[in-house]
Amino acid sequence: MAQKDGMAQKIVATRYGEPTESVRLVPADVAEPGPDEVVVRVLAAGVNPFDAKLVRGQMGTDPAKLPLDLGGEAAGVVHAAGADSGFAIGDEVVVYPARAAFAEFVTAPAANVHRKPSALGWERAAALLLAGVTAADIAATLGLTADDVLLVHGGAGAVGSIVVARAVALGATVIATASAANHDYLRGLGALPVAYDGDLATAIGAVAPAPVTAVADTAGTDAAIDVSLGLVPADRVVSIAAWGRTGDGITVIDGSGPQSKRHRRDAVPGLLEDAAAGRIVVEIAGVYDLADTGRALAAVAGRHPRGKFVVRP
Ligand SMILES: NC(=O)c1ccc[n+]([C@@H]2O[C@H](COP(=O)([O-])OP(=O)(O)OC[C@H]3O[C@@H](n4cnc5c(N)ncnc54)[C@H](OP(=O)(O)O)[C@@H]3O)[C@@H](O)[C@H]2O)c1
Repeated sequence: MAQKDGMAQKIVATRYGEPTESVRLVPADVAEPGPDEVVVRVLAAGVNPFDAKLVRGQMGTDPAKLPLDLGGEAAGVVHAAGADSGFAIGDEVVVYPARAAFAEFVTAPAANVHRKPSALGWERAAALLLAGVTAADIAATLGLTADDVLLVHGGAGAVGSIVVARAVALGATVIATASAANHDYLRGLGALPVAYDGDLATAIGAVAPAPVTAVADTAGTDAAIDVSLGLVPADRVVSIAAWGRTGDGITVIDGSGPQSKRHRRDAVPGLLEDAAAGRIVVEIAGVYDLADTGRALAAVAGRHPRGKFVVRP
C-alpha cells in the first residue's frame, strides 16, 4: 500500500452496522499541510471501543455523516510539516487527538502532535493516549490523594489499568474489579482484585482494608453504579461509561467539558514520560493490518484478551 501520486488509502465506514461488514479501504488524498499542520505517515493506530461504537451506530446513525472517518490516535513519522508547525520531516511523533487515523497518512494541527520518546515503541505509543488521558481525567476529577481507598470498576481494561497504576503510584489503596483471569495482573499493578460476576458488595467488603472513599467506573453497568452508591456519596463516583445513570448525581465524563479538556491536555507530556520509563505499560492484545480494521473493531467491541489492539498500514 505505497503512496502513489499524492494518493494513499484510509479506512471508512460506509454504513452503520457490524464493523466487519461496514468498513472498507478507500483512496485518500495526501493533502499539503497548512502552516500549523503536520502530515504524519502512520506506523500504528490505536483501536478503541469508541471507534467500534461509532461504526455500530451506538453514537448515532446520521446518514449525512457517512462515509465515517475512523481512528482517534496514531504514532508515526512526520512526512510533511507546515512552516510554523515546529516539526520537521522524519520526526517521530504521536498524534492525539487524531481524526481519520486508520490510514496511511494522517493530517493534524501541530498542537495535537507530540514527540514520541525513543524508548517507547510504535504500537505502545499509538495505544497510549486516549486511555491515558481518560485515566488522568478520572483521577483529577476525583482529586485522588494518598488517603483515598479507590474502587476501580474494570481495573484490567485499557483505561482502568492506567487509573489503577496512577492511584497506586500516588499511594492510594486500590480495589479493582476484573475477571478471574486478570486478578494476578491486578495484583502485579498493586491493586486488590475482586470478581465482578458475583455478589460485588460482599466481595469488596471482604478485601477492603478501610472504607472506600472514591469510585472510578469504566464498566458503566448498573451493578457497578448501584454497589458504588452503597459505598460512597454520588459526588465521589466518576464514570466514563454510565451515561444512563447521570440522574443519580454521579459525574460522567467524556472529555468535552472545559475541566476535562484541561485535565486531558495537561496529562499528555507526563503520560509519554511515564510510558517511556515503564511506569505505565500499555499491553498490546493484537496487531491487525490496516485492511483488517473491521476485524480489529469487532474484537474491541466484544470480550477480548487484556490489552489494546492496534492497526498497522
Ligand atoms: N467517556 C470517555 O471519555 C471514555 C474514554 C475512553 C473509553 N471510554 C469508554 O470506557 C469503556 C472502557 O474503555 P477501555 O478502552 O478501557 O475498554 P477495554 O480495554 O475493552 O476494557 C473493558 C474492561 O471492562 C471490564 N468489564 C467487562 N464487563 C464488566 C462488568 N460487568 N463489570 C466490570 N468490568 C467489566 C473488562 O474486564 P475483564 O476483561 O477483566 O473481564 C475490561 O477490563 C468503554 O465503554 C469505552 O467506550 C470512555
